[in-house]
Amino acid sequence: MKGIILAGGSATRLYPITLAVSKQMLPVYDKPMIYYPLSTLMMAGIREVLIISTPVHLPAFESLLGDGSKFGMKFEYKVQEKPVGLADAFILGADFIGDDNVALILGDNMVYGSRIERVLKAASNLKEGGIIFGYQVADPTSYGVVEIDKTGKAISIEEKPAVPKSNLAVPGIYFYDNEVTKIAKEIKPSERGELEITDVNRVYMEKGKLQVIPLGNGYAWFDTGSPDRLSDAADFVKAIELRQGVQIACLEEIAYRNEWISKETLLEYANKYKKTEYGQHLMRVADQDWDTYKDIYNSELFNF
Ligand code: DAU
Repeated sequence: MKGIILAGGSATRLYPITLAVSKQMLPVYDKPMIYYPLSTLMMAGIREVLIISTPVHLPAFESLLGDGSKFGMKFEYKVQEKPVGLADAFILGADFIGDDNVALILGDNMVYGSRIERVLKAASNLKEGGIIFGYQVADPTSYGVVEIDKTGKAISIEEKPAVPKSNLAVPGIYFYDNEVTKIAKEIKPSERGELEITDVNRVYMEKGKLQVIPLGNGYAWFDTGSPDRLSDAADFVKAIELRQGVQIACLEEIAYRNEWISKETLLEYANKYKKTEYGQHLMRVADQDWDTYKDIYNSELFNF
């Protein structure tokens, strides 16, 4: 499976912060925002990623992330001239996707929670159709909203409904089979003039092929599109990292645990960032007896 991060848009809800800077480059506590969605794709085991952004901002992402080799990955970049909608990602990404399945993540979305890696890996093993997530929120009116049956199949999906049919908001993380490029090319712009991801999802739903994984208690999902939500996400990351001495979205750590980079490479980055908690964390990761942890995580004990 391949991955796409959509990191364009005009971020007008964050003006004046985003007048000259890309939203997805803003810090969420101690890392650039794009680290979080990238870490999600990496935890899903996805190694080839296309990063889409505006003509002005794309070069900064290239300079931040490079060709991906530092994480044992492969990155490509593509300009989106105008923010014509989320589904445009599959049109712009058609050559990149080729014959593969694909995961799309919005550059301002982050998820965190117990066993999230397992959930993401399960989604990335999709054979046919689409898999999305459902996250209960108090007020879903500013999101895609999905209604599900007892098996988790979507039975209705609407974009920002005034009167939502459920409390399940749809996070900006989507897994699809290869049909998605064709579907994206066939849908028409919505009333607000965008190629809506919700319309792509509706096509899958009408074929009975849209599976929803509810992210229940124990998961945190943030979209960081407004000052309050951005600040909430930063507070959350800070609280977890300081309390537990862990790092959320530590890309080199995930690459190392995925066995995409060697201990030597990990140590190079630990050294480069040694003046930060991020670097010291990488040093601790290198010192850990990871083989033992891995055996425990892969054992029956964790098979739930
Ligand atoms: O965050 C989850 C929500 O994301 C979903 O629940 C909704 O169904 C989905 O439509 C989307 O809603 P938003 O109103 O948050 O989408 P927004 O227009 O803010 O775009 C999300 C991100 O994608 C944002 O970081 C900018 C980027 N983007 C957006 C568009 C429309 C692009 O890079 N290109 C685009 O053309």
